[in-house]
Amino acid sequence: MKNIVITGGAGFIGSHVVRLFVNKYPEYNIINLDKLTYAGNLANLKDIEDKPNYKFVRMDICDFDAFYQLMQDEKIDGIIHLAAESHVDRSIKDPFTFARTNVMGTLSLLQAAKLYWESLPEKYEGKRFYHISTDEVYGALEMTDPDGIEPPFTTKASSGKHHLAYGKDFFYETTKYNPHSPYSASKASSDHFVRAFHDTYGMPTIVTNCSNNYGPYQFPEKLIPLFINNIRHRKPLPVYGKGENVRDWLYVVDHARAIDTIFHNGKVAETYNIGGFNEWKNIDIIKTVIATVDRLLGRPEGADLDLITYVTDRLGHDARYAIDSTKLQKELGWEPSLQFEEGIEKTVKWYLDNEEWLDNVTSGDYQSYYENMYKGR
Ligand code: NAD
Ligand code: DAU
Repeated sequence: MKNIVITGGAGFIGSHVVRLFVNKYPEYNIINLDKLTYAGNLANLKDIEDKPNYKFVRMDICDFDAFYQLMQDEKIDGIIHLAAESHVDRSIKDPFTFARTNVMGTLSLLQAAKLYWESLPEKYEGKRFYHISTDEVYGALEMTDPDGIEPPFTTKASSGKHHLAYGKDFFYETTKYNPHSPYSASKASSDHFVRAFHDTYGMPTIVTNCSNNYGPYQFPEKLIPLFINNIRHRKPLPVYGKGENVRDWLYVVDHARAIDTIFHNGKVAETYNIGGFNEWKNIDIIKTVIATVDRLLGRPEGADLDLITYVTDRLGHDARYAIDSTKLQKELGWEPSLQFEEGIEKTVKWYLDNEEWLDNVTSGDYQSYYENMYKGR
């Protein structure tokens, strides 16, 4: 495969995938296709923007004609599809935008790829449509006391303090879809369309479902970068509900490495779960982030714990996510490269070293969005 489109390449995870592919595969032409919504930022790719095998195209994935033309002009062999509206809180306020981009946008890419690939003499031979999805499509898991519940694997990511699981059940590739938020409902719908294009037309598709990512270049509306930025400015840290919800965290570069492995070695029509068996309660993550920021800024230990502010819970807030990635680890040999405590240290340090990046993305618009959201809480 030579000509590859990565959609959403100016966003958080997409920028790490673009960087990895551009640096690792000089023989590929990498086209970063992105609409540059509030979440897309070309500053995320400054270090690779002049590479000869990289090109940026500003496009809306819902623009079928433009994408069909691009498929023909660039003779596209592979699509790695990350472009999406990705923030659950925004989906609760504005579900239509999520249906448009995540469902109709994905369908538009699928249909354009189908028409182009079916017009070639080799048809689908050597082609691939790889759709990046989320663990949230599986719904929410029960939470119990973690005492004594070992996850099926202990990975590098989970080898730190919080390696036990918060329940006996996990999300498997075979778990039935049960999305609760407009975001996860839109992602679930797009996953179904991708699989339908394989089952109906024989398109070589792959879907992966990953747990929560953290690391550099994440837009500071998501928990970890939002809180780092707020601690930096001594602003309140809005903890939803009791802060007891559990998420399963993976360093973003490890997700990008998994995408590389699966794009090249994954089996067509398969689903792979991606995660590091690394469950944390929100409040424990928050305390770790506070301690790390305080230490790196030279503030006294615990100086910013008073910023923790319990606010009204997110509507339909899923209790626990926990991915079982045994299939990926056993079949394709992928595993996380970082222990969670190392990853958090690296992440906090990156945001504190890149204050200019943080200040640029936290625009006036962004602030007023949150001010409205928290009104009355
Ligand atoms: P993000 O919000 O940081 O980036 C999304 C990117 O998509 C942005 O660059 C944005 O400009 C672009 N985009 C949005 N709408 C578009 C449109 N209509 N046309 C073209 N481009 C558009 O998202 P992220 O956190 O990097 O997530 C990337 C993908 O990974 C998403 O599909 C998401 O569902 C999935 N995912 C995210 C996580 C996570 O923890 N962040 C975990 C699992 C899966
Ligand atoms: O699980 C994968 C998903 O992880 C991805 O598909 C989504 O794109 C990504 O946004 C993320 O979803 P979450 O809703 O889990 O991430 P978020 O950072 O928004 O929230 C993490 C947890 O922290 C969640 O339980 C809600 C809570 N939270 C979040 C924010 C922004 C707070 O308590 N306060 C906050 O201000």
